[in-house]
Order: sequence, then C-alpha cells, then structure tokens
Amino acid sequence: MLAAAGSSPPAPLAEDLASLWLLDPAVTFLNHGSFGAVPRALRTAFVALQERIEAEPVEFIDRRLGELLTPARTRVATFLGIEPDALGFVTNATEGVNAVLRSLDFAQGDELLTTSHVYNAVRNAMSYRARQTGATYVEVPVPLPIREPLEVVRALTSRMTARTRLVVVDQVTSPTALIFPVETLAAECRARGIELLVDGAHAPGMLDVDVDAIGCTYWTGNLHKWCCAPKGAAVLWVAPERRGDIHPLAVSHFLGEGFVKEFDWQGTRDVAAWSVSGQAIEFFERFGWENVRAHNRALAAWAHDLLCERWQVEPVSPPEHTMLGFMATVRLPHELAQRFATPLDFQKTLYARERIEVPILAFDGRWHARVSAQLYNRPEEYERLAGVVLRHAGR
Ligand SMILES: Cc1ncc(COP(=O)(O)O)c(C=O)c1O
Repeated sequence: MLAAAGSSPPAPLAEDLASLWLLDPAVTFLNHGSFGAVPRALRTAFVALQERIEAEPVEFIDRRLGELLTPARTRVATFLGIEPDALGFVTNATEGVNAVLRSLDFAQGDELLTTSHVYNAVRNAMSYRARQTGATYVEVPVPLPIREPLEVVRALTSRMTARTRLVVVDQVTSPTALIFPVETLAAECRARGIELLVDGAHAPGMLDVDVDAIGCTYWTGNLHKWCCAPKGAAVLWVAPERRGDIHPLAVSHFLGEGFVKEFDWQGTRDVAAWSVSGQAIEFFERFGWENVRAHNRALAAWAHDLLCERWQVEPVSPPEHTMLGFMATVRLPHELAQRFATPLDFQKTLYARERIEVPILAFDGRWHARVSAQLYNRPEEYERLAGVVLRHAGR
C-alpha cells in the first residue's frame, strides 16, 4: 500500500527560525540526525564559557568543576527522568556504549544480542568485545517493512537464550529511523534475568524520555543531537545495582569514589559542552518542548508521506507513523542503484551538485534516504529533495 498523501505540513512555530541556527542557508539541510546543529545563542554561551575557563584554568577545571557541572547535571537529569547522582557525563553515545561493554566481564559462550538495525559503531563495539572475551555476537534480522513494534520484540525474544548476557537495543534506530518499543523489551529482558542496554543516541529531545521508567539496566543518550547541545555532550545512566561496576573508558583519579565523580573526571578535558547542556534544553523551552515535539513529528510524518508518494515506494514502517519521531527513512526509486555505484556516491552527488545534505544508505539490500525534521526545516526543502531525486533517477 502506498502512503496516502494530502495532509498539510505543520505550521512553523515562529517566523524565520533558521536564523537562530548557524546553518548555511545555501544548503538544504535535511540531516540534523547525524550530528545535530548548535543554535547561535548557545554557541555564544559555549564560547564565552570556554574563554572564562581559559582565563583561569586551574580555578575552573579543578576547584570549580562542580560549579560548572552540577547545574547542568540537575537540569539534564530532570529532563530525562534520572536522579542527578545517577547521571554520568560522556562525550557521545558511542563512548557510553563502550563504557558499559568494556566494564562488563563476558565469558566464553555468553551471547551479546542486538538487531540488524543497530548503529554500525555499536555493532563493532559489541563484536570487538565479544571477540576479546570469547563471547558470541548475535544480530537478529528485523526485516523491512515493519508493520508493528511487536515485530521487534518477537524477533529479539526468539533469539534470547540461557546464554544471552546482554541485549543492546536502539530507542530510535539510526539507518531506519524507527522508534523501538524499549519498555516492552525491558520487561522481556527482566523476566529472563537478562541485562538491557538501551542506545538512546537520538532519544533526548525527540522523545519525552523517562529513563527510570524504561526498566533497563543501562541507558545512554546524546544531548548534541536533538537537544542541540555543543558536540561532545552525552549521558550514561546505570541502574543502582550495577552502578558501582561501570567505569569510564578512561579510568582516572576517582576510581571507586562514586559513579558521578568517576565520569566527571576522565582526565583533563574541555567540559564546556557538558556545562552548557542544560542551557540547550532551556533554548527549546521558549517554544515549549511539547510544541517542538508535535511540530517535528508532524513534519517528519508529512515528509515521509510526500516522499513515499512522489517516489512511488512502500513505507518501511506502520502507515500511521507510530514508529516515527523526528526522522523518516524512505526507500529510493530503484533506478538510482543502476545509475550510481554506491549509496554514498549518490549522497555525495546530492551535496556537491544540488547542495542537499541527506544521508543515503543501504538496508536489506535496498537504497533509502533518511530525512530529519528540526524547527528550522521547511516543507519546501522536502519537496525539493523529492524532485531532485526523481531527476537523478531519470524519471
Ligand atoms: C543509534 C545510534 N547510536 C549511537 C550513535 C553514535 O552517536 P555518537 O556519534 O554521538 O557517539 C548514533 C549516531 O548517529 C546513533 O544513531
């Protein structure tokens, strides 16, 4: 069934929102999802803080570190449904995932389980750790199209065994941009005594996250994606019973002195991105987070239907958009695979020749585009992508 077109895109939350960001207006930027983008005002606060720290490096990095980090920790923790003393700052979700994987002892025969939608860096980290410890990396396919979230649960539970030590699952998947039912999966894991690491790289900001309520063992998420914090701002949470066992990748002075203390000090580093991460959350408060979420979800859903219709392709997720957040992955016209050597070649062409920034990727043997929707995006940008892709497909 092809997606029904026709509904209108959401109204922007304010006039000229793009001017609040530093993004180049000459580029049709449909890839907020990869690295986020920092609003001008936040960038100014970030640079000002870096300058303040550089004026008195020892005073700030040593004696006043708590002053730099505590307000941000409190703000971010409240936003994510975490106790502040359970929130460890990390540089990115990759680091959060690695901190967990490298802290746990796996043994010969243990299984580390995830799905075919896993982010490639996480796939590598899991299989690397499995190789190091004699454990086995297991990746269960969840083929597209997905008709209901329970398909993900069924695929994973069908491969859970007495040997499964850790399940890793994305809260929002990277290649396919789908919201996975992590709460249901957490209940399934708990019932079997299996630990669950939720990769929430895209979740903060996009979803109304309540980490404590998920019921998982470990959770990590980026603030530099959908909260628009400066790059290098992310969070790791660990359930109380495991908190003492998980250490940062860089073990440093405060080993064994508490989760927060260990993660706050991972050697000398720039803490400005962590420190202004609370201000990133406040940046969106002027619009109201509920309004931001409603706008971005509606824009992604509208863009999804538009692209499916214009390209005459099947949706890869439920047509009611129940698994879509601020991104949508849409199959591309099949002719493109005959005209370009690889998805990356086509992505580069779109950028170099058309000034459109959008990820193009292969999944299940088919080529897809993943579009993002952030407050600064406008419906015309997706219309433009639709037409340009058709031209390159020779239609
Ligand atoms: C699902 C998922 N996990 C992990 C990451 C890694 O994020 P980072 O590069 O910030 O570590 C990403 C990045 O896009 C992702 O989509």
